[in-house]
Amino acid sequence: MTTKTAPALPVFNHKPSPYCGPSKAETLAMRQEFLSPAILMYYKDPVMIVEGSMQYLFDETGKRYLDGFAGIVTVSVGHCHPKVIEAIREQNERFQHTTTIYLHPNIAQYAKKLASTFPKDSGLSVCYFTNSGSESNDLALLMARAFTGNYDILALRNAYHGMSPTSMGLTALNTWKSPVPQGFGVHHAKCPDMYRGPFGYDDPDAGAKYAADVDEVIRFSTSGQVAAFIAEPIQGVGGTVELPDGYLKHVYKSVRAAGGLCISDEVQAGFGRTGTKFWGFENQGVTPDIITMAKGMATAHRAARSSPAPISPRPWPKDYISTPSAATPSPWPNATQPSTSFSTRTSRNEHSKSVRTSWTGSAICNRATTPSAMSVAKD
Ligand SMILES: Cc1ncc(COP(=O)(O)O)c(C=O)c1O
Repeated sequence: MTTKTAPALPVFNHKPSPYCGPSKAETLAMRQEFLSPAILMYYKDPVMIVEGSMQYLFDETGKRYLDGFAGIVTVSVGHCHPKVIEAIREQNERFQHTTTIYLHPNIAQYAKKLASTFPKDSGLSVCYFTNSGSESNDLALLMARAFTGNYDILALRNAYHGMSPTSMGLTALNTWKSPVPQGFGVHHAKCPDMYRGPFGYDDPDAGAKYAADVDEVIRFSTSGQVAAFIAEPIQGVGGTVELPDGYLKHVYKSVRAAGGLCISDEVQAGFGRTGTKFWGFENQGVTPDIITMAKGMATAHRAARSSPAPISPRPWPKDYISTPSAATPSPWPNATQPSTSFSTRTSRNEHSKSVRTSWTGSAICNRATTPSAMSVAKD
């Protein structure tokens, strides 16, 4: 019998600093006493990570690991990238917080740069910054409902869209659902999974066949008028499920015919992660009305993490994690007047067109908590 040994990691020019903090056993004990048990860890003997440099992580003994996880696509450009560190340092020394009621160039510059990544003539140009992907999806639903005047939302089975109360209702994976009220007005259509689904991996008409289920859901589970359809262009948490060719084209047509907006959740598939296209939806040849994004866009900074029941003696059954900032091009007909836009109604036939062509307002940002993301975008 031959014994295989793991290949050695390539030479890397970074020496981790000596670790002087609490031991692994002390850290584990503190964590068990003071953190919600819902915040789970991998491995019986968990790895303690205390330093990172680009693609590598280091434990408290200085042992180096190749990071194949990146905090579920939350670290886009490596750990402690010198450009990111420098941009954060510069910003922190100059100015740390203001509110959006005052002018600051960074947020507008960042929105402009982000808008330049959307396909030309898509009309996608207006950003609204939030603190996490879950919040971004919550907001996208709110906007879609306010804009269309409709209530029903369509999502896909096997989807993950977050763990806030609203986005948990969109999520359709039992590992990420808690037994709490959620999902009001949300209907889940068949997951277009080419490997496991009924039509066979090579069926050239699979896109249209799976899309027909969305038509059925609209027909049988809604009034016939919907507010939105939301899907990832490749399901991430659900196991990297690629959609069959043409699927989104068919679905977007049906959803728009039923008065709804089309939302692409790009939290995992966006920012070039699918290869040649910057946004995942581009691989399907469609243009959504709203895009949501998060995670690596702030490359791990300003993470919003909240414990749902910090003083409760009973453990909360599921983890609630939010990753850094997200932006949602807004469907407000006039984004400078969101409260007026709330009551604006466009005729059903015209609204999809107007959503993409008549947004004239500047970006709205509800909190100035993403300076790192802004600084990174400057580079
Ligand atoms: C596709 C997708 N949408 C939304 C979210 C929620 O993002 P956040 O964790 O920042 O709230 C995630 C997080 O993993 C995600 O993968």
